[in-house]
Amino acid sequence: MAIVHTDNIKDNMILSEEVKDIKGRLLLKKGQQMGPSHIRILKMWGVTEVNVAGEEEGEKETESAIDQKQIEKTREDVRQNFRHVDLNHPAARELFRLAVQFRTGEDSSKGIIAIPSSKLGDSVQLTSPDIRKKIMLQEVKLPEIPSIVFELNDIMADPLASADDIARIVSKSPSLATLLLKIVNSAFYGFPSKIDSISRAVTIIGTREIGSLALGISVITIFEGIPEKLMDMFAFMRHGFACGIISRILSAQKDMPQTEQLFVSGLLHDIGRAIIYKYFPDHAGVLLSRSIKSGNLLYQEEVSCLGCGHTGIGRILLKKWKLPFNLENNISCHHNPSAAPNPAQASIVHVADIIANAMGLGSSGERLVPPLDTNAWDSLGLSPSCFDVVIRQAINQLSAFDSFLRQKKE
Ligand SMILES: [Fe+2]
Ligand SMILES: [Fe+2]
Repeated sequence: MAIVHTDNIKDNMILSEEVKDIKGRLLLKKGQQMGPSHIRILKMWGVTEVNVAGEEEGEKETESAIDQKQIEKTREDVRQNFRHVDLNHPAARELFRLAVQFRTGEDSSKGIIAIPSSKLGDSVQLTSPDIRKKIMLQEVKLPEIPSIVFELNDIMADPLASADDIARIVSKSPSLATLLLKIVNSAFYGFPSKIDSISRAVTIIGTREIGSLALGISVITIFEGIPEKLMDMFAFMRHGFACGIISRILSAQKDMPQTEQLFVSGLLHDIGRAIIYKYFPDHAGVLLSRSIKSGNLLYQEEVSCLGCGHTGIGRILLKKWKLPFNLENNISCHHNPSAAPNPAQASIVHVADIIANAMGLGSSGERLVPPLDTNAWDSLGLSPSCFDVVIRQAINQLSAFDSFLRQKKE
């Protein structure tokens, strides 16, 4: 049996496992002999690889061509990134293996911010480290909810709202409408024919799904303006998109309802960190610098450095904006999901964040992979063997968002 990328499937190869789409619907049966029409089906539904009988020569050759020394160096670099993760756990071990494989041949520090500590202002003396107090006393005002997010949130809470109502709000922002159409026509949904209007997208995909997607994408505009010397804003957004996509894939695998809400939760999970970078840049500089020196995770340094964590700041913002409670649950508990009021959803975002960090898919400034909450992992009932396909699907889907980020950069 061998895993073969969809682009490398040859005529007459035999499937050694059935192929399902993201929602678990059967696309092709085990034993199917492959031909051009089957390959078309796989591409149409965004399946990036399949298991086939026998061994695939091309892939074997590629593997043997990789320099052993390079693999060893990458393994050591990745081991450093995993220093807070217990590699005796089967899920952590599998993720480590995939991270080494994924980063071999690439710069293994890809996605990890390497800012010299002299630039981070580690010599700055913070007079009052408790930023939560500053927020509560309104010494620093948090951003207001973007008006389009307010309208979308309102309309989605209205049971009588129609597809046209959502389409009308989304169409007020041409850039949002263009991006949404790009996403609904990408591997993220994998529809066979082109969807050319927002109202059609809402009709086909659903009011709640398109509304949530539009809401999440509109919120990330507040990530804009993060000081460059602290954080690459695009890497920050990419980390959010990656975590959102992985959360959605994992929740679909677990047959959870409201996969769209999991996407938005993943997309916005580190929103509190964006607030720290934008509104408290001196504190952020000291925080980043201290975590580099101590080798601790960023969130472990936050309480001593800022008086509270990024998850707590995210919670304050979401409460102020009156966004749905589930978003608050998933975002404020993504580092301690077992303590969440709804642990299943928070656990999905927790695992997705670990995967995104392990693979270096964007960055929120964290250089290390956060530890796995093993209770949360056990409660999900996932198998470590799912990571390989989940990561490949996620990278495939991330490409639609990457082109959006590229356009924004230019
Ligand atoms: Fe986080
Ligand atoms: Fe994160």
